[in-house]
Amino acid sequence: MKACFIGLGYIGLPTSIIAAKGGFNVVGVDINPKIVEKTNQGELHIIENGLEELLKEAIQSKKLRASTQVEESDAYFIVVPTPFKGDHQPDISFVESATRSVIPFLKKGDLYVIESTSPVGTTEKMYELILRERPDLENEIYVAYCPERVLPGNIIYELVHNDRVIGGINEVSTQKAIEFYKQFVKGELHPTNSKTAEMCKLTENSSRDVQIAFANELSIICDKAGINVRELIKLANKHPRVNILNPGAGVGGHCIAVDPYFITADYPNEAKIIATAREINNYKSLWCYEKVLNEILQFEIKNQRKAKVAVMGLAFKPNIDDLRESPSGLIASLLVQKGASAELLIVEPNIQEHSSFKLSNYQEAYEQADIIVFLTAHDEFKSLKPSEDKIVLDFCGVLA
Ligand SMILES: NC(=O)c1ccc[n+]([C@@H]2O[C@H](COP(=O)([O-])OP(=O)(O)OC[C@H]3O[C@@H](n4cnc5c(N)ncnc54)[C@H](O)[C@@H]3O)[C@@H](O)[C@H]2O)c1
Repeated sequence: MKACFIGLGYIGLPTSIIAAKGGFNVVGVDINPKIVEKTNQGELHIIENGLEELLKEAIQSKKLRASTQVEESDAYFIVVPTPFKGDHQPDISFVESATRSVIPFLKKGDLYVIESTSPVGTTEKMYELILRERPDLENEIYVAYCPERVLPGNIIYELVHNDRVIGGINEVSTQKAIEFYKQFVKGELHPTNSKTAEMCKLTENSSRDVQIAFANELSIICDKAGINVRELIKLANKHPRVNILNPGAGVGGHCIAVDPYFITADYPNEAKIIATAREINNYKSLWCYEKVLNEILQFEIKNQRKAKVAVMGLAFKPNIDDLRESPSGLIASLLVQKGASAELLIVEPNIQEHSSFKLSNYQEAYEQADIIVFLTAHDEFKSLKPSEDKIVLDFCGVLA
């Protein structure tokens, strides 16, 4: 069986590799020729431990090949980005154009699956799009939605072992998609319909967003009340049925900070908690920024000189190099643009260089700075020796 994956990014590339390892003949398609070239040379264009060896094996065994062009296959998987537009409306144009690129190759009996995180109803919409161009395929192809829930950094394990939810536009489509995934997934495959599967993915990330918003709101209340929020949460979690998450500098990444908008955009009158959680988590970053500004101001009035500030971490969560939608990156940008007169030393140990900031070594920045602002709880920061003569603003629990 030949499978064609459209989109060779963080999700599409590892899935192509694992599917090839599972015995399928796979062609991975990307519009970016550099990604295609690198992949065919057995080189990863993303960072993921252990994956390059598997890629090399898949390329050498000729089970996987990358191309800029879709090829006739038996199954097609859409794994392209689904960002939101400026007004937080979902942008499914990538899914549409990837689907259009597949349509000329579709034939009776083929499987078409969307893996991209998508607003409810997208799979049915794409089936309608296919039928508009190819009415001959009505009831002749299998169409399903199968979201991905892997954790970058642990993708190889989770792609194989996580349970998956698979929802077809009808039962036979669900079964066909399950037959495909069961060749390489050891986790349970849960059948449902396409709308439930789409909503399931959005629900998972909205649930995380709401829970983090609760912790972030608590952190702001506790700051005003003079209570250590991390101690409070630890104590509250001693209750056998309470499990509060930890607060941070906001919420980032391209999933939790994005997917809830796919619900609020379509159900603005109903999605009250989900919308408020988004607002709280966005506000938390601005609140952190204000706190830093305030500290700079007080330092400079007291000492009658410019403050040196170490801005520690740009990634959206600990120990990764991913800066997408990062609240730490936003706070750093605000400080650079409107950071009063302070001298800023910006630190991100997981990347070599940044397009807008000059990066400093984390140990040197820590030693030189008057004010330390922890934005991302990278492991490196936890080994820094506490220093009494520094002002520390720990927004992410490095010292906890
Ligand atoms: N990265 C994650 O951790 C994660 C987890 C779960 C779900 N998702 C979802 O999976 C989808 C893909 O995410 P990602 O992180 O892999 O994105 P990505 O940006 O890393 O990769 C997407 C790739 O698709 C390519 N592309 C865009 N349009 C194309 C087209 N028409 N034809 C061929 N290639 C095209 C791009 O060049 C890019 O290489 C998104 O909907 C995302 O929300 C991602």
